[in-house]
Amino acid sequence: MDLQERSILLTGAGSGIGAAMALELAARAARLTLAGRRREPLEEVAAMLRERGGQAHVVALDLTVPGAPAAAVAAAQDHFGGVDVLINNAGNVRAGRLETLDESEVLAQIALNLTAPILLTRAAIPALRASGDGLVVNVSSGIGLIGMPFYSTYAATKAGIAHFGEALRRELYGEGVHVLTVYPGATSTPMMDSSQAGTEHGFEYESPEDVATAVVAGMEQGALTVVRGGATRSAMITLNREDPAAVDRTLFARKAALEEAVAEHSSI
Ligand SMILES: NC(=O)c1ccc[n+]([C@@H]2O[C@H](COP(=O)([O-])OP(=O)(O)OC[C@H]3O[C@@H](n4cnc5c(N)ncnc54)[C@H](OP(=O)(O)O)[C@@H]3O)[C@@H](O)[C@H]2O)c1
Repeated sequence: MDLQERSILLTGAGSGIGAAMALELAARAARLTLAGRRREPLEEVAAMLRERGGQAHVVALDLTVPGAPAAAVAAAQDHFGGVDVLINNAGNVRAGRLETLDESEVLAQIALNLTAPILLTRAAIPALRASGDGLVVNVSSGIGLIGMPFYSTYAATKAGIAHFGEALRRELYGEGVHVLTVYPGATSTPMMDSSQAGTEHGFEYESPEDVATAVVAGMEQGALTVVRGGATRSAMITLNREDPAAVDRTLFARKAALEEAVAEHSSI
């Protein structure tokens, strides 16, 4: 896909991987609609985009509110005359034993990580079809490929969005709309500020800029997936396919330490 001057709706654009993707896309003179709840960080990213020759429009809204996904799509369409690319990047996490999570924390993850991107995509499909060369990018997680203890709800949402994307890619095959699924590994963003899990727990961190570079390359190449996370995570994903019980045993050895390290991990 040629991303030059494409109209792109990017959610969660004010920080982390979203902000890094926005800046990477600015180099292609893309026309970006930046969505998120807080206006200020979105305006800061918009100003950086304009400095780099991109065009930017900010939409401050909570994507979990009924009607908000359709409103975000309408804003992009009205401002730039269409939508060529939807990037479902906004996401949240709350780690911890399932029975210790508040009901509201379970529902908040499902609402933002699963329901919102499905409704955003549903609202965007007519515009993506009209584009003639449309693209949906869903940001899942390595945890969507390998379920990690203490992330059961997050894992459900990230596996869910990945499977949603695969089904939709086939549903839209031959109709001018492609779907790319991105599986970042641990990435140094505000989402991870409250996690103490490091390499000793199998989390190899990389920068949001490196993830963004890989995602934009995947968009340009028409890739089906972009998988990050380093060699250790990659080996564990392979082992999980071949011998999931072996992964159970490996993780059991580190379970207590991991539980402690992620006890406060929340970005809600
Ligand atoms: N960082 C990692 O290690 C990692 C690993 C795998 C996958 N991922 C995935 O990568 C994506 C980006 O995460 P990140 O690490 O860049 O996290 P981040 O810095 O916390 O960014 C999340 C963004 O989503 C926005 N957001 C949160 N709640 C929202 C809501 N209700 N409505 C609209 N926007 C909302 C936030 O802005 P506001 O607060 O202003 O709304 C923020 O800009 C997520 O889907 C995440 O699950 C991250």
